[in-house]
Amino acid sequence: MPLEGLRQGFTIAVSGKGGVGKTALSALLVRILSRMGGVLAIDADPDSNLPQALGLEVETTVGEAREAILNAPARSRVASDKAAAWRLALAEKVEETYDYDLLVMGRSEGPGCYCAVNSILRDVIDSRADSYDFTVIDCEAGLEHLSRRTTRDVDVLLAVADPTKNGLVTAKRVQELTGELMVDFGTTAVLVNKVTPENKPLVESQAREQGVEVAFFLPLDPVVAEHDMLGKPVAQIPDDSPIVQAVVAMMEQVLAAAANI
Ligand SMILES: Nc1ncnc2c1ncn2[C@@H]1O[C@H](COP(=O)(O)OP(=O)(O)O)[C@@H](O)[C@H]1O
Ligand SMILES: [Mg+2]
Repeated sequence: MPLEGLRQGFTIAVSGKGGVGKTALSALLVRILSRMGGVLAIDADPDSNLPQALGLEVETTVGEAREAILNAPARSRVASDKAAAWRLALAEKVEETYDYDLLVMGRSEGPGCYCAVNSILRDVIDSRADSYDFTVIDCEAGLEHLSRRTTRDVDVLLAVADPTKNGLVTAKRVQELTGELMVDFGTTAVLVNKVTPENKPLVESQAREQGVEVAFFLPLDPVVAEHDMLGKPVAQIPDDSPIVQAVVAMMEQVLAAAANI
């Protein structure tokens, strides 16, 4: 148990409009949390880019593994197709300072297949998340893939916005959606990423106008863009950079609040 009071398999989902920084934030969360305990990182965005942000190459996505199993001769099929698909697709990273597994859901061709991938995702979360201390899910903007979850809960949903009206409105909608899904969300928090001293007053007034309560502000950090430009994994940004320090401070608050519930 990494922190007293936190339940095993503490699950954080990151959602929001495309381009707001979900993947960058997820990668930093994986890195920060993997120093505290074992992490399962799940890339649930069909437009997957978490592996690059973590600096991992993934050979197989869950969608691809599922297809390979379905296309195999019936006799050679493994007992449980679902379990086999995610096991095949599990990428591992164990280094001195990091310890995590990465699962990329990916796409699957053919009708109904994305649903099938989502159903595997739910199975994985329900059956496996407990064997990790933390699970971090880089979600797509909608939360459909979590919508039919019935058993396991998401402890913290981070609805990420950028400093635009659209970003704030989408984050608010994501937060509202959580009330309609059959998922028990512990906490949902809107955070605005890419904030500067110049745009912060505007973001605050826009948030008030839209009725959005912003829990956290993360700074625009040129190091993130620089890593992107050079093709370096975001997860390798130096510890003393503003964005890493801000994410660490945010997580300390989030985990402390969760531990006190
Ligand atoms: N705090 C930040 N400061 C500067 N650039 C950022 C920050 N967060 C994200 N970015 C940049 O914004 C772009 C989108 O980020 P990404 O994480 O891929 O978004 P998403 O996963 O939401 O589509 C990337 O080019 C990334 O480098
Ligand atoms: Mg992304």
